[in-house]
Amino acid sequence: MGMFEDFRFSLLGGFALSLLLVLAQDQTGFISLACGLPENSSYSDPTTDIYYISDASFVSTGAIMSVSPEFRTNEVRQQLWNVRSFPDGDRNCYYIRHTAGVRYLIRGTFMYGNYDAKGELPVFDLHIGPNKCDSLKFESASAVIYKEIIHVPSSSYIHVCLLNTDSGTPFISALELRPLRNNTYVSESGNSLALVARADTGATGSQIFRYKDDKFDRIWSTESFSVWTSLSTPLIVNAGQNPYEPPSVVMSTAATTKDANTSLNFYWDVPPNDNSGYYIYMHFAEVEELKANQYRAFNVNLNGNFWYGPVVPDYLYDFTVYSQSALTGGRFNFSLTRTENSTLPPIINAVEIYKVIQLLQTETGQEDVDAIINTKLIYGVTRNWQGDPCFPQAYMWN
Ligand SMILES: *[C@@H]1O[C@H](CO)[C@@H](O)[C@H](O)[C@H]1NC(C)=O
Ligand SMILES: *[C@@H]1O[C@H](CO)[C@@H](O)[C@H](O)[C@H]1NC(C)=O
Ligand SMILES: *[C@@H]1O[C@H](CO)[C@@H](O)[C@H](O)[C@H]1NC(C)=O
Ligand SMILES: *[C@@H]1O[C@H](CO)[C@@H](O)[C@H](O)[C@H]1NC(C)=O
Ligand SMILES: *[C@@H]1O[C@H](CO)[C@@H](O)[C@H](O)[C@H]1NC(C)=O
Repeated sequence: MGMFEDFRFSLLGGFALSLLLVLAQDQTGFISLACGLPENSSYSDPTTDIYYISDASFVSTGAIMSVSPEFRTNEVRQQLWNVRSFPDGDRNCYYIRHTAGVRYLIRGTFMYGNYDAKGELPVFDLHIGPNKCDSLKFESASAVIYKEIIHVPSSSYIHVCLLNTDSGTPFISALELRPLRNNTYVSESGNSLALVARADTGATGSQIFRYKDDKFDRIWSTESFSVWTSLSTPLIVNAGQNPYEPPSVVMSTAATTKDANTSLNFYWDVPPNDNSGYYIYMHFAEVEELKANQYRAFNVNLNGNFWYGPVVPDYLYDFTVYSQSALTGGRFNFSLTRTENSTLPPIINAVEIYKVIQLLQTETGQEDVDAIINTKLIYGVTRNWQGDPCFPQAYMWN
């Protein structure tokens, strides 16, 4: 079958760099908390224009700390300069009210920055309500970790909790909620999706794009695709009817193979015995104005079997191909292969990969929580008086 040059997706991480601002968009429905910012303080981020407020009215525990001075530079976004750390209690939670039934992208951002001057990277867990979403492990003091899930909360509030696992003090730098369209990122059975990778394929720099380029403030990072080559256009790529609306700046570059007969392959690693389901979203747009004798069409194969096609990207209009149900089986080897009559190699402009997470236990009824929250306010109880009061057993409230 010729030559195969595979690209493996690495997991999220890396550093936030500069952004380009192009389009003005409003921030309706955004909840942007700069954790550890003094109470009642706020600011607009100079690069993104995102309006951040203090997290103080969303959490009643924790200490405000600043990262060490070498991390408070212009290259490091202001949200990362402070953290809220939780030296007390096994479980500390943010309580955020929002609109019930809305699909949200919920993102925690974490940079250790040696805020406690101990130089020890902590390990801790992140929960949504009673459900564990992920564990946090840092590779360095300057590593910025983003944890994102797409979730439709059934109630009008959400608890985002940090759990102490006896491996250091939990902390958080920023917490953000972004409303998404309700016909995007839909999983079977209403399960939630945790971000594995979101890549601006074909980009040549190391820029990161988010709001305002992306009206939903998804963060798109460049991957280094040495085995592929890039195509680009200086023109605007339109979303048309595509509800995913990947940003034009991301869609205006595409990865392709060096010759038409080579497949464009990529895969991601799944830990052994991990039977999780995955969803993939591949975003395509033609970025070259094709001549009369040129034609680009390709099929998408998964693990050697036909999966979708043919894809014939429209010039300067984007199109998203995605899984309608969870992909399972522990092996996810995608191969984009030109059709017989295609004269040009396959392309891909952007790709997103998500893992299904089941947030099984339902949170306690709204009335109960409101009653407990009121009790808290009246009696001024602070320690551990947060999160879903009933689950899990190990963290039952007193
Ligand atoms: C924050 O604002 C509230 C309401 O205006 C006020 O009661 C509180 O004292 C302020 N807190 C600080 C630290 O200024
Ligand atoms: C999705 O959103 C649209 C517009 O906001 C609304 O009219 C529609 O009822 C929603 N659909 C569902 C299933 O929530
Ligand atoms: C690609 O394949 C076609 C037919 O299979 C062949 O004619 C052509 O020479 C090949 N091109 C390259 C660059 O290998
Ligand atoms: C992906 O599939 C292609 C053939 O479809 C194969 O040559 C390649 O080795 C596979 N890569 C991985 C990592 O499984
Ligand atoms: C390429 O082949 C497909 C399927 O055989 C056909 O539908 C399409 O019209 C062809 N395109 C061109 C430009 O020949």
